[in-house]
Amino acid sequence: MVTGASSGLGSAIVEALAPYQINFCLLSRREKELQELAARQKNSGSNFWIRACDVQRRETVYSAINDFFHETGRLDVAWVNSGIGTNSSFQKWNWEKVESVIDTNLKGAIYTIRACLEIMVPQNSGTIIGIGSAVALRGVPTRGIYGLTKIGLEYFIESLAAELPQIQFTLIHPGFVDTPINQGSSHHRIWLMTPEKAAQLMIKAVGQRKKVYIYPVRMKLLFHFMRMLPLPIYLWLARKIIKEHYREKSSAQD
Ligand SMILES: NC(=O)c1ccc[n+]([C@@H]2O[C@H](COP(=O)([O-])OP(=O)(O)OC[C@H]3O[C@@H](n4cnc5c(N)ncnc54)[C@H](OP(=O)(O)O)[C@@H]3O)[C@@H](O)[C@H]2O)c1
Repeated sequence: MVTGASSGLGSAIVEALAPYQINFCLLSRREKELQELAARQKNSGSNFWIRACDVQRRETVYSAINDFFHETGRLDVAWVNSGIGTNSSFQKWNWEKVESVIDTNLKGAIYTIRACLEIMVPQNSGTIIGIGSAVALRGVPTRGIYGLTKIGLEYFIESLAAELPQIQFTLIHPGFVDTPINQGSSHHRIWLMTPEKAAQLMIKAVGQRKKVYIYPVRMKLLFHFMRMLPLPIYLWLARKIIKEHYREKSSAQD
């Protein structure tokens, strides 16, 4: 099962896994894009079960996942990938966008994970992959709301992993990947990677049963370095460097 399979990372994950004869459950709001993805992979040997699904709607998420399970009899792997971003700086604050980011990235992920676990726990097996973000490395100026949804996802997955050892949980923090989410935002495109390369790295990390995976390596080093910094030093850096950078570029976004 892949949420957000209509675009970017979700679509790349499906294309990378399609040769392995999988019964896919593809979910996202745009059904046409899901149908086109399945049509491109029609000779791959995999099957594609498709449902238009807005992850903000709990009942819709539950009915899609339960219907897939009842038709196929198993749910082994869930990529909890649907996500949107927004600039949540004081100046650019927009309640509609802020609430939509929380409802999609955090509440939508919780609905999805919970619906999957209600199948996987009785099955006594399953893998849940949560897609976080390297932006969750600290409180990044203008990315507070997006970052909190990703860090919230990390905490939720960590607590579930402590409670449910029979389930594999992998939390992935991607660096910057060339997908629609960051197009038109040059400061979100450093060390940019293709979705195809990103999909390969993520699939390998899941295969290796990693608990947390941050990529690329440079982003992982930056992530750990930033998290080690004492708060006063981080705040000084954030104000002096990151905030300046965002201010220069903010007119190009939102
Ligand atoms: N690209 C990056 O640099 C990067 C870096 C770090 C983390 N991420 C994370 O990676 C994940 C995938 O993003 P992406 O880069 O592949 O961006 P993308 O190409 O914009 O894809 C986002 C996906 O989320 C789906 N989605 C959005 N709102 C939804 C909703 N309410 N219900 C169901 N699906 C919804 C979209 O499908 P529909 O519009 O069809 O619903 C789309 O398939 C996100 O969680 C993002 O935060 C990306």
